[in-house]
Amino acid sequence: MKAENCPEYWNEKFKQKNINPSNLAKDYGGAYNKICDWVFKNKHNRVLDIGCGIGVVSFILKKRGFSFQNRDFVCLDFSEIGLKIAKEYCNWIKTIQASFCSNEKIIELENHKFDLIICHNVLEFVEDYLGFAQKAVNMLNDKGKIIFGFQLRKTRSNNPLKRIIDPKMKEFQEFLKQSNLIVENDCVIEKWYLSLITKMDKEGAL
Ligand SMILES: C[S@@+](CC[C@H](N)C(=O)[O-])C[C@H]1O[C@@H](n2cnc3c(N)ncnc32)[C@H](O)[C@@H]1O
Repeated sequence: MKAENCPEYWNEKFKQKNINPSNLAKDYGGAYNKICDWVFKNKHNRVLDIGCGIGVVSFILKKRGFSFQNRDFVCLDFSEIGLKIAKEYCNWIKTIQASFCSNEKIIELENHKFDLIICHNVLEFVEDYLGFAQKAVNMLNDKGKIIFGFQLRKTRSNNPLKRIIDPKMKEFQEFLKQSNLIVENDCVIEKWYLSLITKMDKEGAL
């Protein structure tokens, strides 16, 4: 079975006793806080965190006083253990357990576009990562934004799909161009490349 179709891999990982949003926020606070800065700044009503894992982003947002009321903050993952922990640490989120690649729940979601999508440290584990990214972009509102985060350096991982995506590489740049996407902001924090990407309108303006 391919690791990307294998929530069991992530369930096992998230069962480890030192894995919780608070510890991850301490270890990788720089990158997660940057993502949260962008979420705060953009004041979106409908937010989707694809491959949210154990919900580190929603945990930090809650700690920083983000107002979840009157918003849809949806966390999607195919790991039930991940979602359970995410919900435990931030009760405000709505959770969807589904594979983003193939699921009728996703078709349902496609009819309800999002203002902001977060996809951090997920594409590295997906075989058809550009197809996955395109699917996410298709779920954006006309002026929606998407945050992609990638690891720039190799780390220890026994997931056979783990790869390093170089954001400067031609195929990723082509994908942005063809999908009318423009990088509004990007940065490197520790081992992460983070980018806030906006859909251009028909005239090409942000
Ligand atoms: C390295 S973790 C990152 C978690 C979180 N985004 C973060 O930055 O803390 C990758 C996550 O992607 C999820 N994932 C991978 N492929 C997926 C798919 N096809 N559908 C839904 N979730 C997926 C895994 O279950 C895992 O929780």
